[in-house]
Amino acid sequence: MTRSQDPIFRRKVPVIVIRMTPSRTRITKAVIPAAGLGTRFLPATKATPKEMLPVVDKPAIQYVVEEAATAGLSDVLMVTGRNKRPLEDHFDRNYELEEALDRKGDESRLARVQESSDLATMHYVRQGDPKGLGHAVLCAAPHVGDQPFAVLLGDDLIDPRDPLLQRMIEVREQHGGSVIALMEVDPAQIGLYGCAAAVPDGDDDVVLVSDLVEKPDPADAPSNLAIIGRYVLDPAVFEVLRTTEPGRGGEIQLTDALQALAADPDLGGPVHGVVFKGRRYDTGDRGDYLRAIVRLACEREDLGPEFRAWLRSFVSEEM
Ligand code: G1P
Repeated sequence: MTRSQDPIFRRKVPVIVIRMTPSRTRITKAVIPAAGLGTRFLPATKATPKEMLPVVDKPAIQYVVEEAATAGLSDVLMVTGRNKRPLEDHFDRNYELEEALDRKGDESRLARVQESSDLATMHYVRQGDPKGLGHAVLCAAPHVGDQPFAVLLGDDLIDPRDPLLQRMIEVREQHGGSVIALMEVDPAQIGLYGCAAAVPDGDDDVVLVSDLVEKPDPADAPSNLAIIGRYVLDPAVFEVLRTTEPGRGGEIQLTDALQALAADPDLGGPVHGVVFKGRRYDTGDRGDYLRAIVRLACEREDLGPEFRAWLRSFVSEEM
């Protein structure tokens, strides 16, 4: 299918131009792209979505939905694809299981089963052709409409003790436009991320973004500030995405659309970055996923003490 035949690029969301103070619009919607094939985790992901892989005892995606809910985002849209039904089931009620646990009087497990269905109002849209992150975000346009919204990528888990999304929402309220999460990384690693050129702007943790490039060659990277998977976006990004040409890897890149917004603030306000210094756990590849599980298990009150003691003796025996 060519671009002009693809309804997602043609569909216009009616734009209501009475904008009171856009930066003050309360943000209630979160978009979570979850259509990826998870090939790095095959064969585990042959019949199970990668988002459902457990991190300690919860599927990775539940941490992300919990983070959205904690930031006050009560409406979550997941952009899914084929074989993603377990995601819908996980955030829905499971009456049979609930009844069985209820009959046994197992209240704590019953509460844990119910937790995921009480987090937010869930919605789902299918991406169809996986044409990149920018395309996935564009699939959310009819649901989001003309409101600012957040995007959370499932491979990045942010420790709930270091609230990032709330801070990004505050920065959007202050400056309008869009806000991305940035983190300093080892310069040799910058080619794995979107990279931002930015200058300080007021608060210590806030920068104004002047340039963005998706997965640059480290030798040409404008900085070591990497985009991590949290965005608070002005709806103007949809119009830009409709005309964004495929970029890195032949995919429609969200970074390229944000670059257009940063280069011309008249399109939809400036692009700011919040430089995050808190705890982030990457679950994107197998090594990072294992590290995330070990770190999170060590920090759990119920499992941590015993697990840490075991880990200490395991490591000293292995060394
Ligand atoms: C995506 C974005 C990239 C960002 C990264 C964060 O890349 O395109 O700009 O730095 O997420 O995790 P992906 O890792 O999905 O290839």
